[in-house]
Amino acid sequence: MSARPVGERHILITGASGGLGAALARHYARPGVALVLIARGPERLNAVADECRERGAQVSTVALDVRESRTLAELIAHIDVQSPIDTVIANAGVEASLGRDGQAEALPDVLAQIRTNVEGAVATVLPLIDPMRARGGGRLVLVASLAGRMPLPDQPTYSATKAALIAFGDALRPRLAAQGVRLTVACPGFIATGVTRTYRGWRPLQWSPERAAAVIAAASERGARSIAFPWPLVALVGLGRCVPAFLREAVLRLFFAVHIGQSRRSDADEEHEMPPRRAMAARDISI
Ligand SMILES: NC(=O)c1ccc[n+]([C@@H]2O[C@H](COP(=O)([O-])OP(=O)(O)OC[C@H]3O[C@@H](n4cnc5c(N)ncnc54)[C@H](OP(=O)(O)O)[C@@H]3O)[C@@H](O)[C@H]2O)c1
Repeated sequence: MSARPVGERHILITGASGGLGAALARHYARPGVALVLIARGPERLNAVADECRERGAQVSTVALDVRESRTLAELIAHIDVQSPIDTVIANAGVEASLGRDGQAEALPDVLAQIRTNVEGAVATVLPLIDPMRARGGGRLVLVASLAGRMPLPDQPTYSATKAALIAFGDALRPRLAAQGVRLTVACPGFIATGVTRTYRGWRPLQWSPERAAAVIAAASERGARSIAFPWPLVALVGLGRCVPAFLREAVLRLFFAVHIGQSRRSDADEEHEMPPRRAMAARDISI
């Protein structure tokens, strides 16, 4: 990592080597902006970094697994001491579904999601909370999901990790706001990213990563508490939360009671050399 030049912005994004994170990096990239991009795979990360440099940003890359949470937190604290970070986006995330015929998720899948989506995200923002409070400003962004607002029968752990991020953000926000630090929880619906390569289920009202990135960045810039999209899905989720649980569960049961279909492997499968699992069906939702 090299020190950034004097510039107007210093932004750190995890999961920046593809999908939404890469789109966010490209969105922010311009002269006067220093970006720190983090993901595991250096090749894809460097390709995104090059694109951002072409747009005029100064870019540093760190190839790191966010599950190495102590290392991650220490690194971010160190970077912040060298040059204060004004915006951090905890975006890195993985997802997995139920197994064949609705079998419970494999434990390695469960752990990979909890450790990446919760431990990794918390370790990304935690080291910056007190420094930002002391400076009287800063922006924290947690990338959650609409699945955190409406837990999905085919993705219990993924839904739980995103609900945890929403709760974490909601709990932190009131005290931070008093000290000028803005915390935005993003709850996207479907985005056309890497997950779509392996997942062929129904993904209604899917947005491009660029569109999602622009909306999330704009929400962070104006200090919005949360941002959720697209509005028809948000409305549906809101409605679902209002109706009695038995009714909601009956609808979800009906909606997800489709045969088990396409395969979607999580990182944990590769990590533990498990055979690919065949996951949920043509009409299941994963947001
Ligand atoms: N796509 C959707 O429909 C959707 C909807 C709602 C919310 N989201 C959320 O949006 C965020 C981005 O997802 P995406 O759709 O852009 O997924 P993606 O295309 O699969 O990209 C995920 C990014 O996270 C990185 N990553 C994954 N595990 C990591 C780890 N352990 N350590 C460091 N980096 C890691 C990946 O790079 P490496 O593999 O190189 O590490 C990649 O850069 C996630 O939090 C996801 O839950 C997505």
